[in-house]
Amino acid sequence: MCGIIGYVGDRPCRDILFQGLRRLEYRGYDSAGMSIITDGRFGLLHSVGNLDNLEAILDDLDDTGTLGMAHTRWATHGRPSTENAHPHTDCSGRFAIVLNGIVENYLTLRAELQREGHVFTSETDAEVVAHLVERAYKGSLREAVADAYRRMEGHFTFCTIAVDEPDVIVGIRKETPLVVGLSDGESFVASAVPAFLAHTRSVVFPEDGEIVVVKREGVEILDLDGGAVERPVQQIDWDEETAEKGGFETFMLKEIHEQPAALADTLVERISPDGTVVLDGLGLSPEVIRELRRVVIVACGTAYYAGLAGRYALERWARLPVEVEVASEFRYRDPVIGPDCLCVAVSQSGETADTLAAMRLARQAGARVLAVTNTLGSQATREADGVLFTRAGLEIGVAATKTLVSQILAMLLLSLYVGELRGGLGTDRVREYTEELRRIPAQLSDYLEDGAAAHVEDVAARYASSSFFMCLGRDIGLPVALEGALKLKEISYIPTEAYPAGEMKHGPIALLEDGSPVLVVATDSHVYDKLVSNMQEVRARGARVIAVASEGNESLAEMVDEVLYVPRTDEMLMPLIAVVPLQLFAYYVAKRRGEKVDQPRNLAKTVTVE
Ligand code: AGP
Repeated sequence: MCGIIGYVGDRPCRDILFQGLRRLEYRGYDSAGMSIITDGRFGLLHSVGNLDNLEAILDDLDDTGTLGMAHTRWATHGRPSTENAHPHTDCSGRFAIVLNGIVENYLTLRAELQREGHVFTSETDAEVVAHLVERAYKGSLREAVADAYRRMEGHFTFCTIAVDEPDVIVGIRKETPLVVGLSDGESFVASAVPAFLAHTRSVVFPEDGEIVVVKREGVEILDLDGGAVERPVQQIDWDEETAEKGGFETFMLKEIHEQPAALADTLVERISPDGTVVLDGLGLSPEVIRELRRVVIVACGTAYYAGLAGRYALERWARLPVEVEVASEFRYRDPVIGPDCLCVAVSQSGETADTLAAMRLARQAGARVLAVTNTLGSQATREADGVLFTRAGLEIGVAATKTLVSQILAMLLLSLYVGELRGGLGTDRVREYTEELRRIPAQLSDYLEDGAAAHVEDVAARYASSSFFMCLGRDIGLPVALEGALKLKEISYIPTEAYPAGEMKHGPIALLEDGSPVLVVATDSHVYDKLVSNMQEVRARGARVIAVASEGNESLAEMVDEVLYVPRTDEMLMPLIAVVPLQLFAYYVAKRRGEKVDQPRNLAKTVTVE
């Protein structure tokens, strides 16, 4: 999952391209490159490592050219190196390409092209595109791109420039993101909107297999045979400021503090004045919802844990059987799914390859598909019958935070809505829950402003040198514990296990020794007493218990080593709040160990390959 940006206009584009790459760095940061056409020739730059290294050599590139492309890479084929960095060029040096995604049949194409005398200079799958375009070119870059596309298998987006056509960028997508930005006298093409948000919010989203011919005057969208295709110009409501750190030291910390706003925005117009839930755009009529026999939730990573929290609510409030599936397993398991089933796909980016494939599989089997996503125009919005948008705004930190809480909120709203429609919940009970939900953004804002973070930082400092962590939870607290563990693994790289607390005595408790830190989600709930015995169990083996607890639960303080108090709310809504101290704990442990929390090693924000 790489980041692509292209510019054509009247302004020298070297720095515009570089700033665009900075906005895309969360997509991949192990090598980068840029190519600009100046006076009919390519200027090319390649660097290894994050963008600081490209910035260091930027002056080697002529800065007068007004058309160019740049790329930041997350290696899939070929190790991070200058040879493998994009843009790639062909044998004649007349074409340059950048690609995001994977060309699955690249070995076949490479061998075929080598037999015809093409010389390859990298180990990547992407380089075949430059040679395919070179071979197909007969005076029209658009036609050459169409020919290349017809020969390629996989999921990818690529853009091409040519010295013979110095006023145009030609791009095409297949199951990976591509967006065009339009402004007065200049145009942009990119993997994601933040790349050019500083210049325009007018965007066009082409579909798979549609060619974009991008010029300073605007964009032409054509099908593979050159037929014109109409696509609407949409306005993005994110402002450029969201792409800045807003005075915080990192994007992750900023986004943790943006969670009250993300929840408040995701609630807007979804609770009617009489307290019932209103969800538009689901693509599901009340009759269909009443007919449903089961729900399958598909997702990856943090989104999977949001789905897990959703299961507790959907089963409890709508009395529907729910399975939560890791998308990369679901898609190859030949699962039993059909028309009486609702498939809910949770994905903040809406571009995660495994989740998209799981959606397609469910749809082909006749299931209804609902996407819960944070990204307008993403592939998930195209693959689904309906969309429930979270409104967390742009999330740049690779470790998801505000998109998680807004996903959990979306799942809770969906569960209240379906629960009332199916008679699992009475309207009065729904009103009580929505009343409580309305209070949460302010409760969380107070919690973050009242120095909670400082207390968590102090506690984290005492455990930052640990070599292992355990996270425990029960019932709807389990997804919170699982997410807390994922955050610790993602950004501090400390091996961390998470378990249902009741499962410890069946094996995992053997991992504990004197001083082992165990984080426990122990907020008030109908299983709280069981959790107390589990905490005593692990303390009896010498573990040090750090408990997330409901405000006012003083008695717990005597039973554990550290308490992270959170505002009180209904146990079913508690994940929206209780996950925050675990995010902060992971953050401050990682910070204390000097890790780059916004760009964790080996990870990328959007996983567009399987
Ligand atoms: C979470 O911090 C990670 N970035 C990762 O697990 C992420 O949740 C996963 O890749 C799913 O992404 P999505 O929500 O965009 O589909």
